[in-house]
Amino acid sequence: MAVLPIRLYPDKVLRRECRQVETFDGELRQLADDMVETMYAAPGVGLAAPQVGLDLRLAVIDVTVGEEEDALIVLVNPEVVDSDGIESEVEGCLSIPDFTEKIARATRVKVHAESLDGEQLEIEADGFLARAILHEIDHLDGILFVDRLQGLKRDRARRHLRRLERELVGARV
Ligand code: NI
Repeated sequence: MAVLPIRLYPDKVLRRECRQVETFDGELRQLADDMVETMYAAPGVGLAAPQVGLDLRLAVIDVTVGEEEDALIVLVNPEVVDSDGIESEVEGCLSIPDFTEKIARATRVKVHAESLDGEQLEIEADGFLARAILHEIDHLDGILFVDRLQGLKRDRARRHLRRLERELVGARV
């Protein structure tokens, strides 16, 4: 297993519409293992493949950050099939350092996905886990949580993103 470098905003890979996973092999399992290790090392509660530079529909989630066995969820080709309720709670993202904001999302979701073996999974979640799942699925569509902000919150996010752009450019020279 290996901790992978996390891609930061404004890396273009974070804006890609990710490809379906079609090959369920040892390489996919290795990538998922590395993503789990990277998520725990960060530490974070979720990580999507574009955040480690790959435009694949693969995400890992563990809202206990490794504290509880069985809490780890690996989603391959996930799709939201049902959702309801709405709640605003604070979110952040490993690819957007030093910024958190309240985001409105569904409180309950039902997701269809595949396992690393290509088996069909149905996952029902609510509360913070539902939020984490929706955040990661957004990543697979090139959507960042700041895209879902409006009004003054969006202005605040834009200022922070511009600062990140300047810092990243500064770090390159
Ligand atoms: Ni994120």
